Amino acid sequence: MSQLKEAAQRLLEGKGAIFYITGDAGTGKSRLVEEFKATLDLSRIQWREGHSYAYASNIPYFPFMNLLSRAWQIEEGASQERLKQKIEAGITNLLGDGKDVIPFIGSLYSIKYPETENISPDTGS
Ligand SMILES: Nc1ncnc2c1ncn2[C@@H]1O[C@H](COP(=O)(O)OP(=O)(O)OP(=O)(O)O)[C@@H](O)[C@H]1O
Ligand SMILES: [Mg+2]
Repeated sequence: MSQLKEAAQRLLEGKGAIFYITGDAGTGKSRLVEEFKATLDLSRIQWREGHSYAYASNIPYFPFMNLLSRAWQIEEGASQERLKQKIEAGITNLLGDGKDVIPFIGSLYSIKYPETENISPDTGS
């Protein structure tokens, strides 16, 4: 808990961190996260969650997409047009101008853009 709190403090100074919390079932992982969240000033820190599920283990970037879908209220079965609108609005809102990024995020949701049409799946970031 003290490590998480220190990291949150550094976050306010613009320094990011990644924590990997692992342990046997019922040993308090969820509780730790819940108690940590309760210590944060959520008017200064944006809390975002991306969940992953066993059934999604073969879907690339699933937890990341889950995070974006929650943040942008993308509902299951949304039409392509609506999906496109939400992604474009979400990215623009986040980055100001996100024109370079939209095709890449969009392609995670299987939206086709000319910019990503001939890119091999092996292409890195
Ligand atoms: N430090 C603690 N003091 C008292 N109770 C605790 C503490 N940590 C966890 N618990 C309790 O133990 C139970 C299991 O904790 P929790 O659900 O956080 O485990 P978990 O590691 O997330 O389990 P799972 O792997 O099944 O998701 C909960 O009822 C929780 O409130
Ligand atoms: Mg848990």
